[in-house]
Amino acid sequence: MSLTVWLLLVALCASGGYGEEEKEAPRSGHVSVVIVGGTGDLARKYLWQGFFQLYVDQVSGGNTFSFYGAGLSPAEKATPVLFEILKAVTCSKDVSQDRCAILKDQFLRLSQYRQLKTLEDYQELAKHIEQQLQQEGMTEAGRLFYLSVPAFAYAGAAEKINSSCRPTGGPWLRVVLEKPFGHDYRSAQVLATELLSALKDEEMYRIDHYLGKQVVSKILPFRIENRKFLDPIWNRHHIERIEIVLKETLDVKGRIAFYDEYGVIRDVLQNHLTEVMTLLTMELPVNVSNSGEVLRNKLEVLHSMLPLGKNQAVIGQYQTYKTEVQQELNKTKEHVTLTPTFAAVLAHIDKAQYEDVPVLLISGKMLDERVGYARVVFKNDVFCLQSQNDDRCKPKQIVFYFGHGCLKYPAVLVSKNLFKPLIVGEWKEVTEHKDISVLGLQISDYYIQTPTTEKEAYTELISHIFAGQKNNFISTENLLASWEVWTPLLSSLKGSFPRIYPGGADNGGMLDVHLRGKEIHYNSEVVIISPDQTGGTSASNFQVMQGKFRSAEMVSAWTEELVERLAADMQEAAEKAVQENGVFHLALSGGSSPLALFHRLVLHHFSFPWRDTHIWMVDERCVPPTEVESNFYNMHKHLLHYVKIPYYNIHPMPVQLNQRLCVEEDGGAQLYEKEIKKLVNGSSFHFVLLGVGYDGHTASLFPGGKLNELGEGLVALTESPVKPHQRMSLTFSAINRARSIAVLVMGKGKHELVTQLSRVQENLEKYPVTGVKPANGRLVWYIDYDALLG
Ligand code: BG6
Repeated sequence: MSLTVWLLLVALCASGGYGEEEKEAPRSGHVSVVIVGGTGDLARKYLWQGFFQLYVDQVSGGNTFSFYGAGLSPAEKATPVLFEILKAVTCSKDVSQDRCAILKDQFLRLSQYRQLKTLEDYQELAKHIEQQLQQEGMTEAGRLFYLSVPAFAYAGAAEKINSSCRPTGGPWLRVVLEKPFGHDYRSAQVLATELLSALKDEEMYRIDHYLGKQVVSKILPFRIENRKFLDPIWNRHHIERIEIVLKETLDVKGRIAFYDEYGVIRDVLQNHLTEVMTLLTMELPVNVSNSGEVLRNKLEVLHSMLPLGKNQAVIGQYQTYKTEVQQELNKTKEHVTLTPTFAAVLAHIDKAQYEDVPVLLISGKMLDERVGYARVVFKNDVFCLQSQNDDRCKPKQIVFYFGHGCLKYPAVLVSKNLFKPLIVGEWKEVTEHKDISVLGLQISDYYIQTPTTEKEAYTELISHIFAGQKNNFISTENLLASWEVWTPLLSSLKGSFPRIYPGGADNGGMLDVHLRGKEIHYNSEVVIISPDQTGGTSASNFQVMQGKFRSAEMVSAWTEELVERLAADMQEAAEKAVQENGVFHLALSGGSSPLALFHRLVLHHFSFPWRDTHIWMVDERCVPPTEVESNFYNMHKHLLHYVKIPYYNIHPMPVQLNQRLCVEEDGGAQLYEKEIKKLVNGSSFHFVLLGVGYDGHTASLFPGGKLNELGEGLVALTESPVKPHQRMSLTFSAINRARSIAVLVMGKGKHELVTQLSRVQENLEKYPVTGVKPANGRLVWYIDYDALLG
């Protein structure tokens, strides 16, 4: 055991940690509330409103209050800012306007700004509090410090509070902290040790605002209140899976400096979603307000989770994130970030009750809707042949709906085929609703309960802090146990490329996952445009350049834009051809260059006339089509698999005939030529997509390949200098008949070649690509900036 861990355990034991029930006797008297970071974003949005509500609730409860907004700025500068914030607080509906005005006025008079920077500032604050108590002859109930500051400032602030602001005698001291509490197990441990050298565990209130959400804090009471229904079914025999989902539509612009260091797993899964998971799966406490018991039972879940490794997670990153990072962090276009903005994790709890029950934790930015929920799906083994509308045939589920989404309000929904839940506390049943469906079930198929009045999470938690009620906060031990679960996963994902997703509705099914035993995978194998494949370039702030290359048209741009442009040009050509001829004949090259284009077409070109498109191959390797080296295999995997194209419109090259590969006598090339002649008017493809190899080859027409001798044939067997050597390829005679030819050249590695090509004359033997010269069609070179400029 390391010295730090040992010291931590000693500190925890000495402080009565390990989830012991705090024995703070409620004490009336004066309470000083200090919000450090009192003019910051969180304070502005939630904290002052929460403390005002506390004041309203407690004003006639025997306590008096002083409120201090504190920060690093001098008072002259920050006081007006603070008062602007304070003026904006509001009363709940049940308070009359007159009473509200009085309460606000009192609240404002009890509040002031103080600069808290140095130890002397803290000492002066303590002096001020004591003088005030003395002057007004008040007894002190306690001091509450809310640290709404960056985590690196916690230890210093805690130290100063400990040395100068700790009340003496009976009054309590409570210090509230906001995540992040470290970024992995070790850093969380270091921070915890630092904090425990200044504060006792029971003095610390680590906030997870999800625990203040009404529906989240209802999970345990709901499970207890409905025990008689739930006890028989809350186990592996009846639960099919548990899903905890937080979908968001926003990006992370404005918080990238923080976010890029953390990512979605640290930001949301390690804390909010894990807390919800423990509430759903922990053993029920005998007394739900006994924080020691609640925290101990939660800890047990964390300790019994099966290890999370690479195969238990999939990660994604929204497409524009990289550019946002480059801009906000002043990075170059080469800068690559692997920070995930989406993650789906499959967890399992190693307890007989939940054995093999999948627990899914999913969250992401830039998704199609904002919604948060935890759903327990129950097995339904009834198969209904005809009476589909019978309750027995519908999904059985309990949904803890945190808010937003189509329902728009927080609620607990129990499908009517399970049971009618009891309503206890400040909750009511919803009987009138719009005709919507929630998670696969019509709203009328649920019993729905919602809180009688909606309350903000922070307001709830502030009232718990005031009451010294710790069951909705994170203890040091539970925090470390959670990091123990998540740290191995974070380490195993280091260096993994997240799947890039376009954002919003365009994501389509590309973030869908499927579960295979204890593993989770993306459901589709869409090509992943990883930052290195796009050459570290970005889509923003540049223009697409038009110019000339080898006397033909040239389009140049950063990779993403170039691919966008090529896809758009291709769609335009397709629409035109379909309009004029009812059909579009497209010949595609193999290799890696077209993959980004396929990805673009699949994800963004939903109106592409695939139904009337015929796909031909520019070239093929002489390998079976089931092998990864096969061009057809890749074309299928990255394009054909995702688009609705009739299978008889797909024309793979017949490299395998008579159970052998590319044997001259089998006549595969002639067969393909015949098919082209039969289907393509004048053997003139509408669009041919070509690439260029480092050696100047195009299609499978290689340097030194005696290309002049291929004659008039449209298709030929050729030899490649690299394996697999045997190829089948369209000849120049076929290529140059096309109406439109695009040559796509990307990446720094091609710069040297591009420079040479810009200077040389036609030279088929050395640079086969110079033989691309459409007889009557149009040739456009698509060259990205990396290839063009180096
Ligand atoms: C915060 C995360 O803790 O929770 C944010 O840092 C996230 O990234 C937010 O957006 C979600 O909270 P809510 O209450 O909006 O669901």
